[in-house]
Amino acid sequence: ALITVAMAVGAYLLGSISFAVVASKLFGIADPRTYGSKNPGATNVLRSGNKKAAIATLIGDAAKGWLAVWLAVHYQEQLGVEDIAIALTAIAVFLGHLWPIFFRFVGGKGVATAAGVLLGLNVWLGLATLATWLIVAYAFRYSSLAALAAAVFAPFYYGLLFGVDAILIAVVAMSMLLLFRHSANISNLIAGKESRIGSKAAAKK
Ligand code: G3P
Repeated sequence: ALITVAMAVGAYLLGSISFAVVASKLFGIADPRTYGSKNPGATNVLRSGNKKAAIATLIGDAAKGWLAVWLAVHYQEQLGVEDIAIALTAIAVFLGHLWPIFFRFVGGKGVATAAGVLLGLNVWLGLATLATWLIVAYAFRYSSLAALAAAVFAPFYYGLLFGVDAILIAVVAMSMLLLFRHSANISNLIAGKESRIGSKAAAKK
């Protein structure tokens, strides 16, 4: 039990590193919490016009989700933990991104981190979800809509691959939190006010 708690705390702390803020500092651009959607995430960093910073954000936020879960899965036997520990690690790194302890609990929407978590759980699960994101993003040019679709499909992909277990509950919880974090995007999509991928910061209030 102590190991499980340590894994969850470690994952939460890792998830709390906001790569949108870190990469923006490194690339010398404005803090993403001050423009566009104000969201510290790769989509909003892209609205700055700095593609490298956006890609660094995407990779960093995905990598932290992937690393936490990959370590848990890879060392599950050595650590002597049940699947529940993997489920909690997955949720904890995601929660760190949404409510980061290092940034006054003001975090992102969890898309890149969730992608990393799913890839860490299983490559095929991650790729199927990424493919869903890409197809919707390519068809409609809305980053948020692509994320919403991917979040809806991810639990089904997990269920098809592995059936119902503790980790599926974590995947469902992650998807629900992700959908909930996109409430402003959902309103904007319905109102036809959501900014498309490629349009700059001014497009969004
Ligand atoms: O990655 C988050 C994306 O789905 C929406 O971001 O900045 O358009 O609210 P944003």
